[in-house]
Formats: sequence, C-alpha cells, structure tokens
Amino acid sequence: MITVIANLKGGSGKSTVAFNLAVWLASAGRSVLCYDLDPQATLSDVLQVRQEEAYQPALSLRQHIETWPSDSEILIDVGTSDMTAMTQALTAATRIVVPVAPSQADLWSTQRFLYQISQLERAQAPQIVAFVNRADTHSAIKESDQTAEALQLLPQLTVLKTRLCQRTAYRRSFSEGLAVFELEPNGKAAQEFEQFARQLYPA
Ligand SMILES: Nc1ncnc2c1ncn2[C@@H]1O[C@H](COP(=O)(O)OP(=O)(O)OP(=O)(O)O)[C@@H](O)[C@H]1O
Ligand SMILES: [Mg+2]
Repeated sequence: MITVIANLKGGSGKSTVAFNLAVWLASAGRSVLCYDLDPQATLSDVLQVRQEEAYQPALSLRQHIETWPSDSEILIDVGTSDMTAMTQALTAATRIVVPVAPSQADLWSTQRFLYQISQLERAQAPQIVAFVNRADTHSAIKESDQTAEALQLLPQLTVLKTRLCQRTAYRRSFSEGLAVFELEPNGKAAQEFEQFARQLYPA
C-alpha cells in the first residue's frame, strides 16, 4: 500500500508520524520503504541518526520518486515547499493520512487540502484518513474534541478514533533516531501510538 502522510499545515506532525509508523511496521516484520519528498528532509535526518546509531530494524529511504515496489509498505513524507513532488505522491497514493492539530487554523487548512485532493486527476478517489495529532492531555481543554467533531462533518474523510496526544516523548525519541515505543515502551505515547498504528494497519 502507498500511504502518504500529508497536510498543507506545517508542524502538524507528518514527519514524526511517518517515522514512527515506519519503525512500527518494520518492527512487526513488514518490508517498509520510506520516501522523503520534503526539501526540509526531516525524515532523512532522523533516519540518518538511526543509521549512525545502528538501531534495528534499519529502514530504507528514497528521496526521489523512482518505482513503487508492490512487495513493500510504502510511506511517504511530503512538504509544501515542493508541491510538484507532493502532487505526484498524492496522485499515486492508495491512502492519504492527514494529521490535524487541534485548532481552527488547522481545520481550515485541512479543508483546503481536501479540496486540492479532489482536484487531482486520478482514476479513483484515494482513501483519506484524518486524525487529531498533538491532542491536549488536559480534559478541560476542549479543542481536541471540537476538532474531531468538525472533522467528522467532512464527507470525504474517515476520522480515526485514536488520537495522538501532545507528548514530549515524540521530541525526545525523534532526536535520538528512535520511535516513541522504543524509547519508552511502557509510556502513554507508546500505548496511544500502538492503537493508532493498529487502526491504520490491522493485522
Ligand atoms: N503528538 C505529538 N506530541 C508532541 N510533539 C509532537 C507530536 N507530533 C509532532 N510533534 C512535534 O511537533 C513538531 C513538528 O512535527 P513534525 O516535524 O513531525 O511536523 P511536520 O508536519 O512534518 O512539519 P513540516 O510541515 O515542517 O514538515 C516537532 O517538534 C515534533 O516533535
Ligand atoms: Mg515534516
């Protein structure tokens, strides 16, 4: 399956989620191929740290579209500074996974992104899956619920039940070239990520 992690909004967590999903799939014994099509090269940077540290499982990376091998799970990280590459990836995607941070600005840009996807020349509409990332951990703060409710009103989308909360473990693990569930296997971020990944890739 070709899964693109994308949204127009910067900082919504695309690279973080792409990296953690890639490690999760590879840890489950799946063949994974990562594409970093973002000139910022965040995914390439974290994979370089991982390679230097010789952490296992090792991950394969491409920075330009070549082929789409059908025997691998393909994960693509994109950025808005290369819209040509992003459009190519969105056109090839089996599935587009859209992280949405809990804010009105993120919702607006997600709606604009959905419109852009609808304008792509594709034989068949892709599956689009959105989820709330960086959700508030404090129950008194309602923005995450409101964002999830607003996403559910958008007909083009499937909204994942699982949210990924705002947790420092993502930053700490990423800087070391590790997934959250490798750095803190029993942490809350690891538990949430496991549920999230299982929803995207049921056994
Ligand atoms: N669930 C989360 N909890 C805490 N921090 C997070 C979470 N998801 C992402 N972050 C942090 O948010 C910042 C932006 O994440 P990331 O680089 O993955 O976003 P992006 O969408 O790829 O950004 P860009 O548009 O610049 O490519 C990073 O510092 C990352 O550690
Ligand atoms: Mg990124």
